[in-house]
Amino acid sequence: MRILAVLLLLAAGAPAQTLRSAGERRGVLMGTAADTMDIAHDATYAATLAQQYNMIEAENEMKWGGIQPTQGVFNFTPGDTLATFAEAHGMKLRGHNLCWHSYNPRWLAKGDFTPSQLYTLLETYITTVAGHFKGKVFAWDVVNEALAGDGSGLRDSIWYNQPGIGLTGPAYIDQTFRWAHAADPQALLFYNEYDVEDINPKSDAMYSLAKGMLARGVPIHGVGLQFHVSASQGSLTPAALEANMARFAALGLQIHITELDVRIPVDADGKASASDLAAQAQRYRDIVSACLKYPACTAIQTWGFTDKRSWIPHAYKGYGAALPFDKEYQPKPAFASMLQVLKGPTESTGN
Ligand code: G3I
Repeated sequence: MRILAVLLLLAAGAPAQTLRSAGERRGVLMGTAADTMDIAHDATYAATLAQQYNMIEAENEMKWGGIQPTQGVFNFTPGDTLATFAEAHGMKLRGHNLCWHSYNPRWLAKGDFTPSQLYTLLETYITTVAGHFKGKVFAWDVVNEALAGDGSGLRDSIWYNQPGIGLTGPAYIDQTFRWAHAADPQALLFYNEYDVEDINPKSDAMYSLAKGMLARGVPIHGVGLQFHVSASQGSLTPAALEANMARFAALGLQIHITELDVRIPVDADGKASASDLAAQAQRYRDIVSACLKYPACTAIQTWGFTDKRSWIPHAYKGYGAALPFDKEYQPKPAFASMLQVLKGPTESTGN
């Protein structure tokens, strides 16, 4: 598979340099969200994935909606397929996610369960899933996006207060981490969130949450900063990114950039302008540079890797082209920027 994959990529004009090898030299895992159907049915997708990345995460197939669409029936096939692909290509498998307000199956979301029933359902789910992937998943997004957008506290959710699992405040979050740790004591456990990339009310709330969890002895090992951003966001200066990362690193937590994509305006054909692609490359450069400043930042993962497969055009009308490779798997200026920063000043000028 690997020889054929390499030949396929060389034929497709793939870059000889790889993000994974440059990242390894800097102690940073380079990852991407992926889907088993794309791996199975698109050979260039699979080959690029294996060549460029050493960390992989299911975009949807390891969420509750993907694993347990029917009550009591666990579908581990997609996750096991990813685990096999990861092992075959020397990659780490990252898990996403064990507890979220969204993408829950209808039987759960509309089941009118009591808090006590939800407590048992969540305990059983986390114990079963984290237990199944023990030794296969090296890190989990245990809880995803539990904070209110304005930083005022926790967002409403089936797990918190609608109706919740019978615990108050962040206690449900504490409990999910304890269940995950009991099921797989070796896995690194992360809290994952969006719009927390610089210092703002929401990232302040996440800092308070993480600090409180540590103070309560909860087994939290890191935070996931999603980085779903635009090339034009003025608040995301290098200084702002570094100040935010510095405070989580100072807590002794690892930082994973978990869902990086940098959206830019596109025309009806999904084409972006050269200037927007350049601005995007600079943003990717700034984000990778900020991560490399902190040893605590141990992974950089994009949310997909080719513009052929991205959630952005569906979610942000008029935007797209958010990833390092274009729809034909050709590297974009963003890829070159990431690689250059990872290689560092001396190595970059040396070649
Ligand atoms: O697989 C079904 C398909 O059979 C059906 O025909 C189609 C139309 O209804 O839906 C397909 O499922 C969709 C799924 O993506 C796979 O494409 C769901 O409707 C759609 O809601 C789901 O969206 C995903 C979303 O999370 C919700 O889970 C996006 O692909 C995914 O990129 C997005 O990822 C999230 C992270 O998990 C958390 N952070 C934010 C990020 C973006 O929203």
